[in-house]
Amino acid sequence: MRRAFLFALLCGCAPLVGQRPEFEFYQEFQSVFSPRARADNPLATNDEILNGYARSLRSEGVEETEIARRIHLLREERPLLDADRYNRIYTSGNAPFNRAPNAFVMESLRGKRPGVVLDYAMGEGRNSIYLAQLGWEVWGFDPADAAVELAQRRARALGLTLHAEAVADSEFEFGHERFDVIVFSWAMPLIPVETVLGSLKPGGVVVMEAAADYVGRNGMLQMFDALRILKYEIVRDTADWYDRRQTEIVRLIAVKP
Ligand SMILES: C[S@@+](CC[C@H](N)C(=O)[O-])C[C@H]1O[C@@H](n2cnc3c(N)ncnc32)[C@H](O)[C@@H]1O
Repeated sequence: MRRAFLFALLCGCAPLVGQRPEFEFYQEFQSVFSPRARADNPLATNDEILNGYARSLRSEGVEETEIARRIHLLREERPLLDADRYNRIYTSGNAPFNRAPNAFVMESLRGKRPGVVLDYAMGEGRNSIYLAQLGWEVWGFDPADAAVELAQRRARALGLTLHAEAVADSEFEFGHERFDVIVFSWAMPLIPVETVLGSLKPGGVVVMEAAADYVGRNGMLQMFDALRILKYEIVRDTADWYDRRQTEIVRLIAVKP
């Protein structure tokens, strides 16, 4: 890893930000161990999953200090681990997610007069850049710093401006009635929704697409109950994420009264 970093410095290219070798184990935990444990026991608590992980590491001969380090990170530093994991996905070049703008976002905002939009959990900016190209003033955030850096680099190359920050929703300054549209593309509010909706102008619109098993079949109807729901559907379609599998997808458009 150190050699890769030195190489990056020597050849003048920026090393990938945000990928920490000490977090490497999280890829396997998150994409293999945890889903398998949940499939074996759908009612398992987080503690039970972590205890099972510790047992499995022990049976592989992993040292106790290393097991304790991983369990501590899994208990206390999940957001850091997740940001690092997403950084790896965004910078890998071949991770299976849709790099084109989300089709439902495009369709929902087609022909709408550009205003101020918030791209919530913007990732590497596929939707932000599309909207900026249409003339929208784009704000966005995502804790995956390498992704936000990618978005900014791409925007600069296209002569576009993104107001983008590498922060989680819990750190973002939402403000009051400043956005005409909030886009949730394969994302959902992870903080009290009132804070998010407070930043939407009256008449402002929420556009969301997400996996039904992530947001719950009717979870978003409840979450956005304060808004007027213009469209709500659950359809089986190719996911932008989820390894691009056929998946049940929630699509929602709602207006703030
Ligand atoms: C499935 S990706 C979707 C990214 C992007 N919206 C898209 O459609 O390509 C989910 C994103 O949520 C981000 N994320 C995770 N926790 C977050 C949080 N607390 N606040 C904001 N973004 C978060 C991840 O870093 C990741 O980029």
